[in-house]
Amino acid sequence: MDFQLTEEQLAVQAAAREFAQNELWAGVIERDEHQKFPAEQIKKMGELGFMGMMVSPEYGGGGMDTVSYVLAMEEISKVDASCSVIMSVNNSLVCWGLEKYGTEEQKRKYLPGLTSGQIIGAFALSEPEAGSDATSQRTTAEDKGDYYLLNGTKNWITNGTTASVYLVVAQTNPELKHRGINVLIVEKGMEGFQTGPKENKLGIRGSDTCSLMFTDVKVPKENRIGEDGFGFKFAMQVLAGGRIGIAAQALGIASGAYELSLKYSKERKAFGVPISQHQAIQFKLADMATNIDAARLLCLQSAHDKDAHQDYAKSGAMAKLFASKTAMDTAVEAVQIHGGYGFVKEYHVERMMRDAKITQIYEGTSEIQKIVISREILK
Ligand code: CAA
Ligand code: FAD
Repeated sequence: MDFQLTEEQLAVQAAAREFAQNELWAGVIERDEHQKFPAEQIKKMGELGFMGMMVSPEYGGGGMDTVSYVLAMEEISKVDASCSVIMSVNNSLVCWGLEKYGTEEQKRKYLPGLTSGQIIGAFALSEPEAGSDATSQRTTAEDKGDYYLLNGTKNWITNGTTASVYLVVAQTNPELKHRGINVLIVEKGMEGFQTGPKENKLGIRGSDTCSLMFTDVKVPKENRIGEDGFGFKFAMQVLAGGRIGIAAQALGIASGAYELSLKYSKERKAFGVPISQHQAIQFKLADMATNIDAARLLCLQSAHDKDAHQDYAKSGAMAKLFASKTAMDTAVEAVQIHGGYGFVKEYHVERMMRDAKITQIYEGTSEIQKIVISREILK
């Protein structure tokens, strides 16, 4: 792995940093407080090329590598993890999956809108009774000749009410178990498709999460992605890359909390000196900085593996496992360093602590990442 970032990668990092500081920072507390979806901000992110970074320019994307994507995700997550989850789902689950496995017609129809931020995508795998155990799909896509009849419920879907395009995982042939699963492109407004109320969440409150209900939705056959029965492999493939994005999100939350803590520790005085002169605080900062550097290396390693067309399921799972723990540990200590001020919203770190938790749950819990890693190292 080359540790030197290219000029192009550094430029992407700088552009994301500038955008996050100038456009996201000011309203982030209010969006969190009122669960306000960052519609304007996402539109701008689309205009700046952050919504389809890795998609080929032929379909309106930025044609960038995964390393650039990781760098941008870190910068945006430092300020607003709600914006970065919307960005992550759109980039690594929806756009990447469509470009890699979609038909030419599907790509031309959906990618230009998704990459420019004119429309948003969602990825619907989880169900009320199928989260970690993702092969236990109850949603059915009955083959009716020239269309599928879709019935069932999806839970916890990011961009649930705001998306226009949904990649929905459903069981077509239960006898074949996971090899009978398909992924269908469902559009908002299809008859029989409804969304549930927005979930009232602990963190990433600006993002919109809800359930999806399908009742006899007729989905044309040409909306299936890949061959019949490819759906579960598709889900696993996009999630392998998606986990790199969520690892970068966790890294960003950790870096954001660390940077605020470092600054605060030099300003706040107790017992006549800045608290940064107390060894207990210095050691917290040392642990934070060490874990963040290690997390960044794992994120870049997995991004590099993906860009080099090497296997990245293990390195992506490792990056997500470690970076999400780093995010949680760092954000909790950031609140501690801020003392009572850390417990109120104006100082940002309490939000980061709440946002950090989800990185250990979605796109595969930490326990699931350990299953993925151990299977890889034992095979
Ligand atoms: N690439 C391609 N195929 C893969 C794969 C990969 N990385 N990983 C597994 N597969 C294939 C296997 O080869 C197998 O297919 P075959 O039998 O044809 O070979 C099939 O998938 C099933 O694999 P397993 O037998 O390993 O299945 P399992 O039931 O033991 O479960 C699991 C595997 C890793 C636990 C999987 O169920 C899993 O990842 N669960 C977590 C689900 C998850 O991450 N959900 C996230 C939802 S999206 C989200 O959360 C977005 C957001 O918040 C923002
Ligand atoms: P469960 O699978 O019921 O797990 C409960 C606990 O048991 C966890 O600690 C888990 O690690 C543990 N556990 C389960 N199985 C094992 C095992 N074999 N070994 C050891 N421990 C195990 N899903 C989507 O499809 N699309 C989205 O856009 C999306 N966005 C989300 C946004 C938010 C805010 C949230 C909260 C969730 C989102 N999800 C989404 C769903 C998310 O991926 C699931 O919540 C997650 O995969 C865990 O599934 P579960 O909640 O059913 O927990």
